[in-house]
Amino acid sequence: MKKKVYIETYGCQMNFSDSEIVGSIMTNNDYEVTKIINEASLVFINTCSIRDNAEQRVSRRLKELRALKKKNPELKVGLLGCMAERLQDKIFEEEVVDLIVGPDAYRDLPNLLNAVDKGQKAANVILSEEETYDEIEPVRLDNNGISAFISIMRGCQNFCSYCVVPYTRGKERSRNPETIINEAKNLFEKGYREITLLGQNVNSYSWDGDESINFAILLEKVALINPLLRIRFATSHPKDISDELLHIVAKYDNICKSIHLPVQSGSSRILKLMNRKYTREWYMNRIEAIKRIIPGCAISTDIITGFCSETEEDHKETISLMEWVGYDYAFMFKYSERSNTLAAKKMKDDIPEEVKSRRLEEIIDLQRKLSLESNNNDIGKSFEILIDGTSKRSQLKLSGRNSQNKVVIIPKNENQLGDYITIKIKGCSSATLISE
Ligand code: SAH
Ligand code: SF4
Ligand code: F3S
Repeated sequence: MKKKVYIETYGCQMNFSDSEIVGSIMTNNDYEVTKIINEASLVFINTCSIRDNAEQRVSRRLKELRALKKKNPELKVGLLGCMAERLQDKIFEEEVVDLIVGPDAYRDLPNLLNAVDKGQKAANVILSEEETYDEIEPVRLDNNGISAFISIMRGCQNFCSYCVVPYTRGKERSRNPETIINEAKNLFEKGYREITLLGQNVNSYSWDGDESINFAILLEKVALINPLLRIRFATSHPKDISDELLHIVAKYDNICKSIHLPVQSGSSRILKLMNRKYTREWYMNRIEAIKRIIPGCAISTDIITGFCSETEEDHKETISLMEWVGYDYAFMFKYSERSNTLAAKKMKDDIPEEVKSRRLEEIIDLQRKLSLESNNNDIGKSFEILIDGTSKRSQLKLSGRNSQNKVVIIPKNENQLGDYITIKIKGCSSATLISE
């Protein structure tokens, strides 16, 4: 009988994609992936270091695993991902951990597990300048058979001053385009209808083979696989989102009209301290380009409140920018200092916790209003949606998403997962659209 591994993932979509690569490596090495933790002989926790609370969540989870291990002393626990890379063998202080593996070392898992099986502790946190796991066909975990992620690049070397990713994920490198296109084709043949191309900064994708391929060209090649295959991508960095890319998005119906463009702050002074390499004006120019070239395109963002030295004026600039753009949705966070980053070394984390919280609440309230406004504007309009799940509230309803990435609730009728249907919007909340 095959041994069973249970994989739990925290953090960004890229980490979820990595867990699928890990799943593939494990299934090729006498393991089977299980969704039931109690039947596993091996538990992997794929971790995130982006903010302190992300790491705390994992620490709490490790305590729970300690209890599980008491009941089942044979159980082995591996800590993977960004926390493994950031903290390295310090994590062995958590006694429950048998194995530590960084994001570029997953091919070494079978080897490391041999040592663990002999009762040793094992670690590999070496970062690579080449590893892209390009020919590994991920095992799709926990998904609906309709949407899947494809990693197209790894690492990041933008060194935004607050960010831990360049340290946990290493140098930026792009994956061979042929393997990306093959993976997308295979998914389409298996019935998948939506793929999301992933990278920390997809617009700096670059491959020099027989031809030079940038992200716009790659996106076009993937869009041409089949008009019934929807394409999304994340994340775009404002400093290099080009008009060329926007024109490709506009040209193909199956490239979704939704762009995630994290701004982080509306103040040029703070952006400079963050080392984001653009100003408020540059960002506004890019938003104008999106609105001009792709009418009806949804725009979403990430924002950090309470970064080092942020004044009330800076905060107001973030608020006015949010209003000016009219974001469809946003992910908003309190600044969390990460050791070793430029900000931790050179700047003071000087905004009191209660000020960070109050500013965060203000922007969350504003965003709720903007999302509701944006959804209200859709009432009466018709959209093509791809059905990708059942409603969380009612078994009699299905849910799908439109090109703008908004969730639409529809009656079940004879509709099925993976169908495209065109429907008219009758109502909404700030989070979803509702049709009849
Ligand atoms: N590569 C993407 C972001 C990846 S991290 C980009 O550059 O846009 C996802 C989000 O986490 C970031 O956009 C930022 O808003 C937030 N984030 C990153 N580091 C953070 C920190 N130290 N404290 C709070 N939020 C942070
Ligand atoms: Fe972090 Fe900046 Fe890289 Fe995004 S672009 S992952 S925020 S360093
Ligand atoms: Fe977290 Fe690492 Fe992703 S720090 S956000 S899991 S790249």
